[in-house]
Amino acid sequence: MGETILVVDDDLQTVKLISLLLQRKGYRTLPATSGVQALAKAQTEQPDLIILDVMMPDLDGLEVCRRLRANPRLSAIPILMFTAKAAVGDKIAGLQAGADDYLTKPVHPAELISRVEALLQRAARPKAQATARAHAATIGFLGVKGGVGTSTVALNTAATLALGGGHLPPAVRTSPPDFQAPQVLLADLAPHGGLAHLLRLSQGLGLPGLLARPPRELDPPTIEKHLTRHVSGLRMLLTPYAPRPVMLSAAHIQVIARHLAALSDYVLFEMGHTLDDGARTLLGELRYLVLVMEPTSLCLLHARELIQILLQIGWVLQQLGLVVVNRAVSGIALTRRQIEEALSLELIGFISPAPDLAHRAVDQGVPIVMLQPESPLAEQFRELARRLVALTR
Ligand SMILES: Nc1ncnc2c1ncn2[C@@H]1O[C@H](COP(=O)(O)OP(=O)(O)OP(=O)(O)O)[C@@H](O)[C@H]1O
Ligand SMILES: [Mg+2]
Repeated sequence: MGETILVVDDDLQTVKLISLLLQRKGYRTLPATSGVQALAKAQTEQPDLIILDVMMPDLDGLEVCRRLRANPRLSAIPILMFTAKAAVGDKIAGLQAGADDYLTKPVHPAELISRVEALLQRAARPKAQATARAHAATIGFLGVKGGVGTSTVALNTAATLALGGGHLPPAVRTSPPDFQAPQVLLADLAPHGGLAHLLRLSQGLGLPGLLARPPRELDPPTIEKHLTRHVSGLRMLLTPYAPRPVMLSAAHIQVIARHLAALSDYVLFEMGHTLDDGARTLLGELRYLVLVMEPTSLCLLHARELIQILLQIGWVLQQLGLVVVNRAVSGIALTRRQIEEALSLELIGFISPAPDLAHRAVDQGVPIVMLQPESPLAEQFRELARRLVALTR
């Protein structure tokens, strides 16, 4: 408590109202009624969070956001966009400009406060865990139950990012000359493994070699030697499929996750579908967690329980996203809206049924996004990748 929040809106009444709500919760507030004023106050006061209106006469919120993000002294300040614009396109523009979260007017005071608290918590987390951790965006993929497509989603999202962050299909990409695809790592820490199977790989899988050593002997060069390189540019830490779950010690998981984060821009972790001790340890190393599910009522039950556990152990909704994989065409599938409403969680990806393509991809050991980059499925993975880039910035 006691953090300073800069409240920016060209309507003075709105500034006053929001400030009052925040002050009641013990926050210090600073007012600004224009974009220019907002930038000036951000410079001089270094607030802990900025609530930013989008439509303002002199300098709009998107531009303020871009300028803040481009300034190394101010770039880490969390930004909550606050606006009357409710269209999806505007929301995306806000996120692309660098906003951390987005609220549309009118907002319920409790929602405003909970988003503010979540953003402040998220900002404090990396500081608390600074240690050896570098700047990689660490993202976990956890199935709400088995067989829902978790490995497929993790692999295809990782390959998409490695191919260029999911900006355009690789075949039609016209990147600027200085464009560089981010460094992406994918680690299979699921108790059963399984990622290698999707790529038809069985030799030279590195994880068992690392687990055979005591954690203190593991350093980044050693870990790097155990990675498998994929044609997409993706580097992977793989393990053979294990019919019986393999227990990874917390110490191994922590050391491996931290060193991987130092080796790359993005580290994606396939976590399987059980929240065992290993997965719980890994959670502490993640910036964002993707829950994968099918659009069925059984998955909804599993998801609800999982989300409840996650909230109990200190996760906030803003760090959690849902990806729904609709593997089979079925009249009883739940809609996106039903799922979002039932779980109060944002759906950041929706993958439609493509049994033939999914089957061929596994058969040939090629990620779907590379086997058929022009397919709707590949586009859905690119959308998901773009969303994750924005969410973990
Ligand atoms: N969009 C899709 N449409 C149809 N089938 C799909 C789709 N995505 C994945 N599949 C298929 O569903 C099966 C399960 O996928 P996957 O192995 O990714 O799930 P998982 O949750 O990792 O499973 P497990 O719990 O066994 O590790 C695979 O045969 C995969 O090819
Ligand atoms: Mg799997």
